[in-house]
Amino acid sequence: MAYATYKSVEVATLHTSLTPCIFDDEPLERDSLSALISDIGYEPIPTGDPEEALRLIRSGRSRLVLASIHMQNSAPFEFLDRALRCDPGVHLIVMTADYTLDNALEAIRRGATDFLPKPVDHARLKRTLDEVAALYDQRRRVRALEEQLLKDLEFHGIVGKSPAMLEVFDFARKVARHYTNVLLVGATGTGKELVARAIHQISPVSQQRLAVCNCSAMVDTLLESQLFGHVRGAFTGATDTRPGLFEYANGGTVFLDEVGETSLPMQAKLLRVIQNREIQRVGSPEIKQVNVRLIAATNRDLRAEVLTGRFREDLFYRLSSIQIRIPSLSERLEDIPLLVQFFLKKYNDAYGKNIAGLTRRTQTLLLQHPWPGNVRELENVISTACITATGDFIDISDLPEHLQHRSPRLANDEDWHPLSLDEVRKHHIQKVLQMCNGNRLRAAQILGIGRTSLYRYLKRDGLDIRPHTHSTGAAA
Ligand SMILES: Nc1ncnc2c1ncn2[C@@H]1O[C@H](COP(=O)(O)OP(=O)(O)OP(=O)(O)O)[C@@H](O)[C@H]1O
Ligand SMILES: [Mg+2]
Repeated sequence: MAYATYKSVEVATLHTSLTPCIFDDEPLERDSLSALISDIGYEPIPTGDPEEALRLIRSGRSRLVLASIHMQNSAPFEFLDRALRCDPGVHLIVMTADYTLDNALEAIRRGATDFLPKPVDHARLKRTLDEVAALYDQRRRVRALEEQLLKDLEFHGIVGKSPAMLEVFDFARKVARHYTNVLLVGATGTGKELVARAIHQISPVSQQRLAVCNCSAMVDTLLESQLFGHVRGAFTGATDTRPGLFEYANGGTVFLDEVGETSLPMQAKLLRVIQNREIQRVGSPEIKQVNVRLIAATNRDLRAEVLTGRFREDLFYRLSSIQIRIPSLSERLEDIPLLVQFFLKKYNDAYGKNIAGLTRRTQTLLLQHPWPGNVRELENVISTACITATGDFIDISDLPEHLQHRSPRLANDEDWHPLSLDEVRKHHIQKVLQMCNGNRLRAAQILGIGRTSLYRYLKRDGLDIRPHTHSTGAAA
């Protein structure tokens, strides 16, 4: 029997995960094709119902569909178009009794893998199936290799292969060995906290504690008690005596995020920690000695803040003897595919999905986006798309609205309207808030204004954007 060789174990193992769906409304033809394909070494699922076939595609059960279509129908390619919309990565072999070269080219142009005349030539069918199986297998192997590569290009959970990021890794590695203060400078969402954690992990004090404090999230009094601790009765609500983060991480590292947001009195207290290694709990006369490494981060231009008198010059020099600048994502577009792969793996695992990648047009779109929220924004986009995507691949329709419709290079000119400054401000605040999933603190940071100013504008402009319900862990 001519098909005996196809039944070899190797071929069968290679093919089983393809699970071809045979969609044919002729029961006899469906059965005979089914038998033939089983002989070749696959496990086909035959059906005469187009909706059932689409369900199999959507669920990812069938990666290969053999669809019999009638060219005399009013919309002969409707099934093909719908199937590819369900999953742009599905392989579709169209079979028809009304074969013409024009029809074949049209089907291929629309995305079919092959177009076969009926009755189907067995050798040709086998060749096509083998090609699809080989391609499928090749994709799997490429993915395995990429996963390996990803491991090699990961620096303590930070992914990057651009020269700019490799330089950051290299510098962080060198600096970490010395117990010196470090200033991390970079726009929001570029990974400053990740770098701070990596520096602590590879430092000689990695066994000691790392304390993280977001200086912009608290009013001064609360921040002071958080950092320095307080004694019982120091202020209303201080019902017990508590050590602060400097004591907690004594001998280790304290990461001061958004250090540029601290007030001048708080800056004086930080300077004392650096210069004299001294702290005082709120409400206590006792001076304690601490020895910590300070890693501070900011998305502001601290030198400019010094010039305008908003940041102490002496503290700036003490903090910034070693400065690491983390580049924005738009400066390292070549990291995007790697980051996408990293986040896909993370959210596939988290949501129990098996999304293989992005369609080509989605990849192109991501490379054109300016990414004002940097890697955090990219992570949010991928995590949300992992939830909404139903097929093997994330397509444009799985992206947030503002990404789907914008044409970044033209947007400014084409969308231009003679608006008043008030209207421009309102529109801009609205967009930044949407990008931050309604997180007002983050939006205020990106806008370069204080939270109170943002609230004032929101109130004045009648805006009330609340956080989205399914924001990910990435959106703080
Ligand atoms: N290179 C990277 N590889 C993997 N994940 C990254 C990378 N950069 C950032 N992330 C992820 O993006 C998110 C934001 O990173 P992070 O909090 O370190 O940024 P940040 O610079 O501290 O932002 P902000 O200025 O807003 O505090 C986190 O979920 C982090 O895990
Ligand atoms: Mg941060």
